[in-house]
Amino acid sequence: MSREIKLVAFLQAQNCTTIPAAWRHPDARADFTSAAYYQHIGKVLEHGKFDIGFFDDRLAMPDMYLGDHAHVIEHGIRAVKMDPTAVLMAMAMGTERLGLGATYSTTYHQPFHVARLFQTIDLMSNGRAAWNVVTSVNDNEARNMGRDKVIDHDVRYDRADDFMAAVLGHWDSWDEDAIVLDKQHGVFAKPGSVRRLDHDGPFYKTRGPFTVPRSAQGRPVLIQAGASGRGQTFAARWGELLFTAFPTFEIARRSYDSLKAACAAGGRDPDHMKIAALGFPIAAATKAEAEDKRAFYDTLPNDTDSLSLLSEALNYDFGAKGMDEPFTDADMAGLSGIQALRDRVVQQGVKNPTPRDFMQLTGRGRLNHAWVGGPKEIADIMEEWFTAPACDGFVIGPSWLPGSFEDFVTHVVPELQRRGIYRKDYTGTTLRDHLGLPKATLGDWK
Ligand SMILES: Cc1cc2nc3c(=O)[nH]c(=O)nc-3n(C[C@H](O)[C@H](O)[C@H](O)COP(=O)(O)O)c2cc1C
Repeated sequence: MSREIKLVAFLQAQNCTTIPAAWRHPDARADFTSAAYYQHIGKVLEHGKFDIGFFDDRLAMPDMYLGDHAHVIEHGIRAVKMDPTAVLMAMAMGTERLGLGATYSTTYHQPFHVARLFQTIDLMSNGRAAWNVVTSVNDNEARNMGRDKVIDHDVRYDRADDFMAAVLGHWDSWDEDAIVLDKQHGVFAKPGSVRRLDHDGPFYKTRGPFTVPRSAQGRPVLIQAGASGRGQTFAARWGELLFTAFPTFEIARRSYDSLKAACAAGGRDPDHMKIAALGFPIAAATKAEAEDKRAFYDTLPNDTDSLSLLSEALNYDFGAKGMDEPFTDADMAGLSGIQALRDRVVQQGVKNPTPRDFMQLTGRGRLNHAWVGGPKEIADIMEEWFTAPACDGFVIGPSWLPGSFEDFVTHVVPELQRRGIYRKDYTGTTLRDHLGLPKATLGDWK
């Protein structure tokens, strides 16, 4: 079978998209706390034959900026953030084929809990679940979850390695045919087909036996988006669907090769690790119409949105500096959180950036690096990245909801299908089927 683009929808169980201004759009729906809202989006994505919709997560309000949450509440900067797994279940109940992913942190939960939660979703959705494995980024999350500060970057990933071994171990505790339900002889399941894990690792201890049977795709798909050196090593070790966010085609292409090589070097089949590049399409019937939409959208964000989200991502109060006051070397070294964001600014030649530089060079809080066009223009970009290859598919970031996905499915999906680089219909039922990943078997991750 020829290669086909994988499509991931970037979703948030919140009042806006990743761009705070999303809720200010006149066509944005206001019922973002209702199941109906997420089910509508799920149906749109399924109509567009998306592989998966996935919910991001953060365990705190972005209230690092100016050390207070008043601006977050006033401007609606991700002020509402609901539990992604509960929302995911609502979406699951309104869809039949769409894959369903949610983010959960290895830093603030226990492996048994996460293994049980996602395996349950996988069963309830007939094998459509995925877990986006993150290690969490900032002190505000730590403060909500029993700590004062976020754990050091690389240590978070060391802990996460141990966490993964425990989760996957639990998922392997039940044989596929364990349940026999023999009422006549009173045998529910074969005792020898359910094992205790007895995991005793450097960071986590969990005994088992695990309490959720195996699912139609074996176990949930693992998503990862590590971008630092340590993060990419982790992603290449465990990830089955990787998210990347790169400013240029060239960087994306090189990173694609190195991630696939790292995957192979670890003894895995690189084809069983799909890489999806982040993009923000503004699609319309014609290029001119799309440009009008973009011009209007650009009137919605404000500087507070950007400074707040930069503070959150880099674990630093950007309000402590004047807009044109450079970060000192010590300030730069002290930035933690999403280090790739800091590196992106430095790589663009600005060693001591000001908050204004950070805003301009990262585009955080605004629509940045958008693909603006009619079907042809957007499909051209996607086809170029996909065939290079710089990716196996795309994470489609919406600028407002549900309009962005409706426009993308109406205008771009048929063009991708016409070019023969995207499915016309689902051929399987599980998320692994959609992604071209084999059904998971016991021990295949070791
Ligand atoms: C598309 C995409 C989605 C992400 N979603 C989340 C998320 O929901 N929660 C989170 O804490 N981090 C999220 N991240 C951040 C990554 O997990 C990772 O921390 C980041 O890319 C920095 O890499 P590093 O951890 O190796 O420094 C996401 C990244 C990308 C590209």
